[in-house]
Amino acid sequence: MSTKRARTSLTDMARFSSSMISWVLLTASSLVLLAVTAAVGTEEKPVTFVFGDSLTDVGNNNFLPMSLAKSDYPWYGIDYEKKLPTGRFTNGRTIGDFISAKLGIPPPPPYLSLSPNDDALMKGVNYASGGAGILNETGFYFIQKLSFDDQITCFEKTKEAIAAKIGVASANKLVSKALYFIGLGSNDYVNNFLQPFLPDGQQYTHDEFIELLASTLNGQMRRLYQLGARKVVFHGLGPLGCIPSQRVKSWKGACLEQVNKWVQQFNSKVQKLLYSLNGELPSARFAFADSYGIVLDLIKRPQAYGFKISETSCCNVDSTVGGLCLPSSTLCANRSEYVFWDAFHPTDAANAVIAQRMFAKPSIGGAPPPK
Ligand SMILES: *[C@@H]1O[C@H](CO)[C@@H](O)[C@H](O)[C@H]1NC(C)=O
Ligand SMILES: *[C@@H]1O[C@H](CO)[C@@H](O)[C@H](O)[C@H]1NC(C)=O
Repeated sequence: MSTKRARTSLTDMARFSSSMISWVLLTASSLVLLAVTAAVGTEEKPVTFVFGDSLTDVGNNNFLPMSLAKSDYPWYGIDYEKKLPTGRFTNGRTIGDFISAKLGIPPPPPYLSLSPNDDALMKGVNYASGGAGILNETGFYFIQKLSFDDQITCFEKTKEAIAAKIGVASANKLVSKALYFIGLGSNDYVNNFLQPFLPDGQQYTHDEFIELLASTLNGQMRRLYQLGARKVVFHGLGPLGCIPSQRVKSWKGACLEQVNKWVQQFNSKVQKLLYSLNGELPSARFAFADSYGIVLDLIKRPQAYGFKISETSCCNVDSTVGGLCLPSSTLCANRSEYVFWDAFHPTDAANAVIAQRMFAKPSIGGAPPPK
């Protein structure tokens, strides 16, 4: 009896230390691989909840009548399933779509397309909204959008609706097992801090602004945790100084190095925040997915990935009026040769490469380039 108990506690200790190790080494790719492995050979598909901005919006803003951050017109979606616009801000699939495919699930539907008690809520939901940021005031000139706070409130309602269907205990289990993807922060720069006519850029130094972002995000992550989120992947920012809408501000169309420095500071601040939350909140597994280096390399050496052009966009946008691909715009001849679709968003082909490299074995950002 006592030997048995001794053996059990040894096993427990081994299990405990191995979970400690995986917790310490936790990366976004391992979290996703974990979910893939768990799903393989079972009927159970991973449930995912997605929070984000136009890089992950799959149509929420189409349901906001006043929103100016919309993409439900040609040429958006020209390379998507039915060649029609869906509300995605790209010609085809988002990075999130590619990740869903990796997980073997359809991309979760936009929250605003579902009825409040829809059974589909239990299979995963996308709350992302073009123009959204970590801060409420970010993107205010788009009139309507779901800020991150709004998106978390939508998730709270989702959880209540699920609890009404299957009971509180089962709902708690469902949300604690689910995977959460968050991609926010780009608009806090592009449509807030970097806009000379908005107050945040004048009122705060960058150090102060980053503190504001981090303390706001800290509260938001804790709120998600309290609602039951445990396995969370936060997608860091790409080199925003190199997106076409920023390059046009430089004299020779070069990347804005100052912006890239700020973005990297943001990334390391958020990574530290998430890891410290992991240390504090029991069973939190918050991972940081760093695609900065991957996207920068794609921009600096497009040929290595089968692309030709990365400094300007496939759609001939006017970045002085919005930078989106308007129906009157002309497109490049071959959309697979361009890294950028419009002044802000990568093409389907670029998203495929970014998602592939981010979630490739053995570990995130460590995979060698394809050529
Ligand atoms: C942001 O908006 C949400 C509701 O949409 C509100 O609960 C929250 O207090 C606001 N945050 C700030 C800092 O104003
Ligand atoms: C478009 O470009 C891609 C990538 O360079 C290339 O593989 C493909 O053959 C091109 N398609 C056409 C029709 O030229």
